[in-house]
Amino acid sequence: MENQATYNYKVVRQFAIMTVVWGIVGMLVGVVIAAQMVWPQLNVGPYFHFGRLRPLHTNAVIFAFGGCGLMATSLYVVQRTCNVRLISDKLAGFVFWGWQAVIVLAAVTLPLGLTSGKEYAELEWPIDILITIVWVAYAVVFFGTIAIRKVKHIYVANWFYGGFILAVALLHIVNSMEMPVSMWKSYSAYAGAVDAMVQWWYGHNAVGFFLTAGFLGMMYYFVPKQAGRPVYSYRLSVVHFWALIFTYMWAGPHHLHYTALPDWTQSLGMVFSLILLAPSWGGMINGIMTLSGAWHKLRTDPILKFLVTALSFYGMSTFEGPMMSIKTVNALSHFTDWTIGHVHSGALGWVAMITIGSIYYLVPRLFNREEMYSVKLVETHFWIATLGTVLYIASMWIAGVTQGLMWRAVNPDGTLTYAFIDAVKASHPYFFIRFLGGFMFLSGMLLMLYNVLRTAFAGRPVNAEIPAVVAHA
Ligand code: HEM
Ligand code: HEM
Repeated sequence: MENQATYNYKVVRQFAIMTVVWGIVGMLVGVVIAAQMVWPQLNVGPYFHFGRLRPLHTNAVIFAFGGCGLMATSLYVVQRTCNVRLISDKLAGFVFWGWQAVIVLAAVTLPLGLTSGKEYAELEWPIDILITIVWVAYAVVFFGTIAIRKVKHIYVANWFYGGFILAVALLHIVNSMEMPVSMWKSYSAYAGAVDAMVQWWYGHNAVGFFLTAGFLGMMYYFVPKQAGRPVYSYRLSVVHFWALIFTYMWAGPHHLHYTALPDWTQSLGMVFSLILLAPSWGGMINGIMTLSGAWHKLRTDPILKFLVTALSFYGMSTFEGPMMSIKTVNALSHFTDWTIGHVHSGALGWVAMITIGSIYYLVPRLFNREEMYSVKLVETHFWIATLGTVLYIASMWIAGVTQGLMWRAVNPDGTLTYAFIDAVKASHPYFFIRFLGGFMFLSGMLLMLYNVLRTAFAGRPVNAEIPAVVAHA
């Protein structure tokens, strides 16, 4: 089976299954930290304290769940659109096992409190080096496959995946420049405001490239495939690509409003964030309009529902983001749960939903089945996930704006109207609603695992044959 006449689906299968598994682990940790905010007595010992589990959550959902989803889909899409098997099965296997090793090391070191203290780049220097090696191998497999392609044209999804791979390499290397002082301790090569700027140049582009560009690659392949329609405007997709990657790079300073960063840098970040609305919505509209002529499918196809709802949440969070980057709005939203609501409308609504939809598309094809074991269960998953997301973000919006307004309220004599704890008390009911929403989202993932396993066991692993005809497949 392992020959050049077939695609390498093995590595896609491995990553696809681990996407679901790590999704459950990461979201379970999310639900645990959400519960800790409701019931503080759940903070036990040093290892399972909120402060240690929070970075475990972010690393697990972004790099383990999101990362495996991106690798599964990119390695599938690049083969299908280039009509060729991956350039090296061995290297692809190394990428899979290397990435799992990074994840396990993260899961061990973060609860132990070993951290470089940079958000979304917490892992210590030996793991940073391992990430670099695995990432370079991933880039070689991806671009190597493009280099040996049998189709002249490079389909737009590959541009987005390629942009994501290159940008993440650049971000990781620049932001992780550090001086080791022992096996598990290092200090950043940058200092003061420069360190902060490098960190948020990285942080925002992690959003732009890890949490957006790669998933747009998914959108450009799986939405047209599932809808059975070509991309609405191919020309727009190319403009979308260049406009998005150019603009994202400059928006980082909106994370550092009212800090020691020079004022002009903050304003520049704000302006580029406002401009970012245009390419983001251009892409979103391109995705949604791809359904023209296939709208009726939305009524009956839960996979399409996942993909299109993901695009709606993408549109919503990329409208909200530019608004929050306006300095006067940020003066209210920063430090509050509004940010957390924004994050999860992107993370649950966009990233998780587009991934879930794409994995549901892939699994039957990877295991030689016509469709998922239970399409009804996919439909149930869709509604639980949507409702969970809405509960999560709506509760955080209300909590966030309440906190912001309470913190800034002053009495006529200039003293603060509320003590900090008053805002915490006011937030408590919303923390509970967030916990409930998160719990629902996690339950949906458990249904997914069951459905995926039943589909896998009912079928058998296959590597599809590469068609002789040169066409997009
Ligand atoms: C046009 C697009 C977007 C813009 C301009 C934007 C802007 C912003 C702004 C202004 C903040 C608040 C910064 C602060 O007060 O500290 C923020 C936070 C954040 N956004 Fe967005 N956003 C966008 C899209 C997205 C999307 C699609 C996602 C996720 C998939 C996302 C994930 C995040 C995360 C994770 C944070 C929190 C960072 C942190 O402080 O740890 N954003 N964004
Ligand atoms: C069951 C689902 C989830 C639950 C219950 C959950 C819960 C939480 C909680 C309680 C926090 C800490 C908020 C705080 O510090 O006040 C958090 C932070 C965060 N979560 Fe989630 N989460 C879930 C899914 C996800 C997913 C799927 C992603 C990404 C793909 C994600 C990305 C993040 C990020 C980036 C932060 C840090 C935000 C910031 O610093 O501004 N979460 N999550």
